[in-house]
Amino acid sequence: MKRVAILISGGGSNMVELVRSMQGDYPARACLVLSNVPDAGGLAKAREMSIDTQVVDHREHKGDRAGFEAALNAALDQARPDIICLAGFMRVLSADFISRWAGKILNIHPSLLPKYKGLNTHSRALEAGDSIAGCSVHEVTAELDGGPILGQAQVPVLPGDTAETLAARVLPMEHILYPLVLRRFAGGERERVSL
Ligand code: GRF
Repeated sequence: MKRVAILISGGGSNMVELVRSMQGDYPARACLVLSNVPDAGGLAKAREMSIDTQVVDHREHKGDRAGFEAALNAALDQARPDIICLAGFMRVLSADFISRWAGKILNIHPSLLPKYKGLNTHSRALEAGDSIAGCSVHEVTAELDGGPILGQAQVPVLPGDTAETLAARVLPMEHILYPLVLRRFAGGERERVSL
């Protein structure tokens, strides 16, 4: 049974779906939900689901990424995760942190990588006139949004779409894709899945 720590910065809708999926014959269980934002909405949702929570406030380590990550590692070492899922986690992690957890970190990104790494993915897809959009789950490496892709889900871009309407169409697919990819990853499978 793999232990999974989930890192969030906001509402945590992906975290909720991951936690909800991790039951029964699913080969993993959530051991911690950690946020860099003390009042992140996802923390209350995690507590309602009886998941241990921690806060490592990046504002207490202004300009000191190493100090922030040392506090992050202290919380994680206590939880002993086999896998770390970034889910709406909005801090860039250093190469040192990533090598400390090499091969154990997943992230969900709201675009069909390698397109639109970084932020504002939906507005960029609309500006480009794309007819499809979607989300990707990938292994986290030192290259931002650049690690091996483990799964993708596609949605159509519709006439009149805004970044908000497109995000609203992609997010439910994230909630299906991430638990599916985590289940495979926890079971040792690495072949990419496409929805
Ligand atoms: C989602 O679009 C996700 O792709 C991105 O952050 C957004 C909010 O995610 N990583 P959540 O509701 O906090 O899980």
